[in-house]
Amino acid sequence: MTSPTSTASWNALVAHRTELGNPNINAWFQADPQRARKFCVEALGIYLDYSKQPVTDKTMAMLSDLAQEMDVTGWRDRMFAGEKINSTEQRAVLHTALRNRSNRPINVDGVNVMPSISRVLQQMRGFAGAVRDGNWRGHTNELITDIVNIGIGGSDLGPAMACAALKAFGHPRLRSHFVSNVDSTHLTETLAGLNAASTLFIVCSKTFTTQETLTNAHSARRWLVDKLGADTAVAKHFVAVSTNAKEVSAFGIDIANMFEFWDWVGGRYSLWSAVGLSLAVLIGMDNFDEMLAGAYRMDEHFREAPLENNLPVILALISIWQRNFMHAETYGVLPYSQALARFPAYLQQLEMESNGKRVDREGNIVDYATAPIIWGEPGTNGQHAFYQLIHQGTAVVPADFIVALQSEYPLSDHQPKLLANCLAQTEALLRGKDAAAVERELQSKNYGPTQIAEMTPHRVFPGNRPSNTLFMNRLDPKTLGALVAAYEHKVFVQGIIWNINSFDQWGVELGKQLANQILSEFEGGTIGVEHDSSTRAAIAMINAKR
Ligand code: F6P
Repeated sequence: MTSPTSTASWNALVAHRTELGNPNINAWFQADPQRARKFCVEALGIYLDYSKQPVTDKTMAMLSDLAQEMDVTGWRDRMFAGEKINSTEQRAVLHTALRNRSNRPINVDGVNVMPSISRVLQQMRGFAGAVRDGNWRGHTNELITDIVNIGIGGSDLGPAMACAALKAFGHPRLRSHFVSNVDSTHLTETLAGLNAASTLFIVCSKTFTTQETLTNAHSARRWLVDKLGADTAVAKHFVAVSTNAKEVSAFGIDIANMFEFWDWVGGRYSLWSAVGLSLAVLIGMDNFDEMLAGAYRMDEHFREAPLENNLPVILALISIWQRNFMHAETYGVLPYSQALARFPAYLQQLEMESNGKRVDREGNIVDYATAPIIWGEPGTNGQHAFYQLIHQGTAVVPADFIVALQSEYPLSDHQPKLLANCLAQTEALLRGKDAAAVERELQSKNYGPTQIAEMTPHRVFPGNRPSNTLFMNRLDPKTLGALVAAYEHKVFVQGIIWNINSFDQWGVELGKQLANQILSEFEGGTIGVEHDSSTRAAIAMINAKR
């Protein structure tokens, strides 16, 4: 297979980057009144403006050539067709099948997976409807008021992000909670305000062997049985989402209350499966279906739109340009939407667990950068915390600003202020403020020449700092589905261009192994000689204090 750095288009991009020197995006705007109209793309109600990126027509054409040369379209078709493109685990990658709205059969090992998907969606519909209507009640016949999802990673971040994003569409009686951390504070503080008789736990784990999730689930179960005074209460208060019926049963959850998914759904791509059950209960299955429909329509856009008009492809190409040619180390995700507060954390797993790889598909160490560090917080909070660095720090941080034009909770003049701040930040990053402008401003405030000379350097903004802005009309289930699917495909395209497997996560294993070993050493086992002296001393210190 091809290494990207050996392609003609990569090498042409290297030369093009040198030729561009220090791109002056401001000057490009002045020279081309059509720039904003040229560097934008719209799909499924999401409008992406990437005109504030350091790209020209030539850059975009060359990046498209790179995508062609790396066979993005071929790999895309292989993914949608159910080929086992996750080669290190010999698995298909079929989260797209979960939202397939066409009549296309999708086969894995010669078996069409669509009937199983429909069956579980029906099961979810029945269950979500029953909890919402009050037909599913607790052990003492109380209505369910609180849903606690116990899971971690992909079994937490997707539904947690989406429940926060779509809370405005939630059932008025229901509150959703998410417990992920094995730190007992998380479970204890979550349960503190809850009434066991009206609480439903959804234990979500692909493997059903994850230490954190199982520990939290066992403690939650003890809490419930203590409060309700009967083991039999578990049946009405615990359901499971997993691929592992044996372990679910061993935990004590009736298989009738298990919602199945499959090994061809990666954890961080599982929101669309029964992992989204807490969301389906909160917003109702019709809204959940709308979210799936939005994602499906983005899938179709990704499959059909030419590369140069393909929103996820453009997101990926811009990020490749930033990472590999502009050498950006980190990438900001800045939602101007409180509802998307968990979106940066969700994208951290999606991008960093998928593409944080140092060997290519054949196991060779790569000689180019892969995933950047993804981070972010909602605007406007970030403005009063870390934007200083984005505006005036030494690192250039490209960022996606994500904004819904309408609020689900319109309140006096909040929304125009939010929108004004979003636009102001991307403009300030682009435009900057030069010394002459600062001096004029200080002169108008009657400062003398010495003070002006001292003050000016601190007040200069270099400008030409890159950003994308993604506009949506409103953040409804369909648009959220399309938005998340767009980022999934962005990550896919990056992975193909970097020639890495985006669908495994071996990098999380070593820590898990060592944690189990250290745990046994806390429990009286001999402290292993292979530990470094720092870890040995820490284990001994902890054992002495316990
Ligand atoms: O440790 C990483 C990971 O395997 C993620 O990929 C996954 O989303 C998470 O753990 C949770 O796994 P599970 O759903 O099997 O509990």
